[in-house]
Amino acid sequence: MVVHGPLPPPRHSLAGIPGPKSAGETLLSGAHIPWWKEAVFYQIYPRSFADSDGDGVGDLAGIRAHLSDLAWLGVDALWISPFFRSPMADFGYDVSDFCDVDPLFGDLAEFDALVADAHLLGMKVVIDWVPNHTSDQHPWFVDAASSRESSRRHWYVWRDAAPDGSPPNNWVAAFDLTAPAWTLHESTDQWYLHLFEAAQPDLNWDEPAVVEAMHDTLRFWLDRGVDGFRADVVHGIGKHPALPDDPPEVAGIPHCALNDEPITHERLRAIRTLIDSYPGERMMVGEVFLLSTEAVATYYGNDDELHLAFNFPPLFAPWLASRWAECIEDARRSIDPRGAWPTWVLSNHDNPRHRTRYDRGAARAGEEPATAARRSEPRARAAAVLLLTLRGTPFIFQGDELGLADADIPEDVRVDPGGRDGCRAVLPWDGSKDHGWPMRDGMTTWLPSAPEADSRNRVTQRGRPDSILHLYRRAIAIRRACPALALGSYDPLASPEGTLAFRRQLESSACTVLVNFTGDPVEMASLGLVGATVLLASDDTAPAERFSGLLGPDQAVVLST
Ligand code: NOJ
Repeated sequence: MVVHGPLPPPRHSLAGIPGPKSAGETLLSGAHIPWWKEAVFYQIYPRSFADSDGDGVGDLAGIRAHLSDLAWLGVDALWISPFFRSPMADFGYDVSDFCDVDPLFGDLAEFDALVADAHLLGMKVVIDWVPNHTSDQHPWFVDAASSRESSRRHWYVWRDAAPDGSPPNNWVAAFDLTAPAWTLHESTDQWYLHLFEAAQPDLNWDEPAVVEAMHDTLRFWLDRGVDGFRADVVHGIGKHPALPDDPPEVAGIPHCALNDEPITHERLRAIRTLIDSYPGERMMVGEVFLLSTEAVATYYGNDDELHLAFNFPPLFAPWLASRWAECIEDARRSIDPRGAWPTWVLSNHDNPRHRTRYDRGAARAGEEPATAARRSEPRARAAAVLLLTLRGTPFIFQGDELGLADADIPEDVRVDPGGRDGCRAVLPWDGSKDHGWPMRDGMTTWLPSAPEADSRNRVTQRGRPDSILHLYRRAIAIRRACPALALGSYDPLASPEGTLAFRRQLESSACTVLVNFTGDPVEMASLGLVGATVLLASDDTAPAERFSGLLGPDQAVVLST
């Protein structure tokens, strides 16, 4: 096992924080809790995480070398974005072989070693599964495109042109909203469907052989010991049989954000049966990129479709108490009645990091630059506490624990067709000149480093107990130590404007979380919590033992109540 430096201390044995629970442990008397309900997930975007061979692109050995850092942080599960063979038109989300590792990232043996090491450190490994499309260089598509008579022709979605020679319908592709979701394949004179880039043709899940082949790809990785999958645009695997035009009122919205067909649920039930047939509580968290929580909730089925589904409105929400209250209420209204379990995410590899988003939102709302600069880090810290205390499974995007903002990537250095380079800037590991990315032969990293790398790197922040990295670690530890925070009920409490207050309770364990979304102190004495024990404060390593009743600007606290 590759471990840099001494092994981490036993997880969650932080001074002053009550005794640890281990992932998968049964917390409720008598009830078994699946591990993914109480887990804190950490998303790794492998190209930008850590590089082992100096070619400027992160790889599996790089991840493996830093597993001990993640165990130190206290996360329970890793979601690793695609590392499969790929021409990289969409940096791995264009897969040309679902069952192999791209040489850029390593090989299957390296993957097996990574899973084994992660398991030794008590962390689960969840990998990306991209069922909606393949690369146009996948042998299946090459075969399908070779002639109209190919036995694999119907593995993809082909149509003749509309009578006027235009694409078969008005669906718009992602990324370039002026581009149709169709490309004419000249040699066979038909159009093929692609909800994303032309290099990512959509699979046709109406074809039983596609279903079987894609199920086999799940089996391949389950047999190798992965704990689950993050399923990419999984709501895309069922299309309306007539492929009708999208209505004019949503023209210009990419079809991937609109596709919501009943047949997908049947397909998810079959996938769920397959996954549940494996021992060891394997799971699937689906990317259901529909913009309403109510629609997303249906993809849990009756506990027979997705185990978890990403809920994106919070990922787009500004730092505003009223908006967050709505997001939380939407989840309670839509997800809870199904007996399903929510997820929470602030950032990922497709969107500006939340620190950047909040700063931009505040600037748009007229915040002075000096105020914005002062509030930027406190907002990110309070958001971390919120993320880790809501009812549901939290997902941390790599680098959020360092408080990273997006890199400002000059036009000529951008590489992503969707313009998502800023949040994918490479992760700074230390304060050295190359920030832990030593390059060979004058090579450069595939994207520049994230900003403020001299201070916002792991080594520097680990040496500072007041850093946001330590805050994340303390918040994760508290979440695990307090059953109420991981699994308890959620009760909103009336609180002054600009703040949120909620109580979490499980049996005799109870906590109250207070979050101030404003840049001014707010008097919270009306909640009757003055004197309660402060377990965690977003801005203070050693908060006063008793809550004074005053919540600082952009401050979040967790009280034992
Ligand atoms: C969603 C992924 O998160 C994104 O990165 C990718 O470009 C699209 N799906 C297409 O696979």
